[in-house]
Amino acid sequence: MAGQTGEGALWGGRFSSGPDYVLQRLSKSTHFDWRLVPYDLDATAAHARALAQAGHLRHRDLDTILAALDTIREDYLGDRIHPRESDEDVHGALERILIERVGETLGGSLRAGRSRNDQIATFVRMYARDSARALRSILLECVRILLQRSEEVGDRAMPGRTHFQHAQPVLVAHYLLAHAWPLIRDIQRIDDWSRRNNVSPYGGGALAGGGLGLNPETIAQELGFDSVSPNSLDGTSSRDGVAEFLYITAQIGLDVSRLAEEIIIYSSAEFSYVSLDDAFATGSSMMPQKKNPDIAELARGKSGRLVGNLTGLLTTLKGLPLAYNRDLQEDKEPLFDSVDTLLVVLPAMAGLVASLRFNLDTMERNATAGFSLATDVADYLVGQGVAFREAHEIVGALVAHCEERGIELDEASDEDMASISPHLTPEVRSAMTLEASLQAKSGRGGTAPEQVAKQRAELGALVDALDTP
Ligand code: ARG
Repeated sequence: MAGQTGEGALWGGRFSSGPDYVLQRLSKSTHFDWRLVPYDLDATAAHARALAQAGHLRHRDLDTILAALDTIREDYLGDRIHPRESDEDVHGALERILIERVGETLGGSLRAGRSRNDQIATFVRMYARDSARALRSILLECVRILLQRSEEVGDRAMPGRTHFQHAQPVLVAHYLLAHAWPLIRDIQRIDDWSRRNNVSPYGGGALAGGGLGLNPETIAQELGFDSVSPNSLDGTSSRDGVAEFLYITAQIGLDVSRLAEEIIIYSSAEFSYVSLDDAFATGSSMMPQKKNPDIAELARGKSGRLVGNLTGLLTTLKGLPLAYNRDLQEDKEPLFDSVDTLLVVLPAMAGLVASLRFNLDTMERNATAGFSLATDVADYLVGQGVAFREAHEIVGALVAHCEERGIELDEASDEDMASISPHLTPEVRSAMTLEASLQAKSGRGGTAPEQVAKQRAELGALVDALDTP
């Protein structure tokens, strides 16, 4: 191909030889950017219309091109067209296919006034925008499932933990909703990000802006963008929008991994707080009795991969000079991988949580273990006018007393309590019940049943509001 542009490539005139095989192998991106075909076709059609409007393309030729683009789209959806060995990237492949259908003159005319640099910057944003929509709707579904499950468990209690040690009892519903709020914030992050991301770099050309009198505003509008990038150098070369999106996907991965970790622990024999549904658990090839929480483990494991995609891209972007650099081709694989990963992780986790069996009696039986009502007793003493510092000491002594004898707080005798402190009267027992402990947490955000009901209503309303486009 010396001295001319080769098949599937978009440059060549000034070269005396074609690219070496090792360069081709390194440079090629069709094995991953082929999924951008629909966006390339949308933009190419919009671009053709803009060329016609500016008088660079006859209307008859425009019609021919638009009809050909339609057939290419159908063939793409029907899996009848594929990139060739000689195609450098999705843009080159599509030009080759278009030329096969409308001839070299027409097919080769659409490169006027645009560059792969503004094209790829645009398509990546369009891809991320569509993926964000898909992720958003699965996240909403996950929140709805947690809401539904939190309703089913009623006012039953479980041990609340800090440092993974028994701390204070909480409602199972309160706990489930605590895993829903981070997902709500992820949805809000997506919405916030999309306001910044929905700016079109199209018309930025290679770097300096497009010529030929084309109107980038019209193309941006046709492609569903809110506005046009105010700086072509920035528009064609910035990928902070992709990095920010990858942060959101990594955060979703982390949020889900925390729930996954607890499902793994709480489904073990020592806890048996939850049981996995058969359809959402796996067996062992050797141990016949096994029932494994593979979904939760994969969700936990894949969160590492999501973080890796983010840190990989950030490292690629560091120190890149203006404007486009080929390094930027490395934005796509982490982006695609993070989206693909969440699109399998989230539905599986949703199914796992939706089908989980809660062993509420076991959970509630353990809710007050580990002296988890001690703080309630101290709070009771404060209500009796004892300074918290002293109350803390008194209840600490009571805990030590009970621990030594292997009994629970409410099993200490009246005499023993009185010998620890005159403040520990028999009335203090009113603070030593699960119900009293739960009821007492009645401030906003607390685990009192009435507060949790309010919380659920608040979350439900928020989900409905976020679900209306
Ligand atoms: N495959 C390239 C990318 O992903 C498309 C842009 C190529 N531009 C260029 N000047 N080589 O970034």
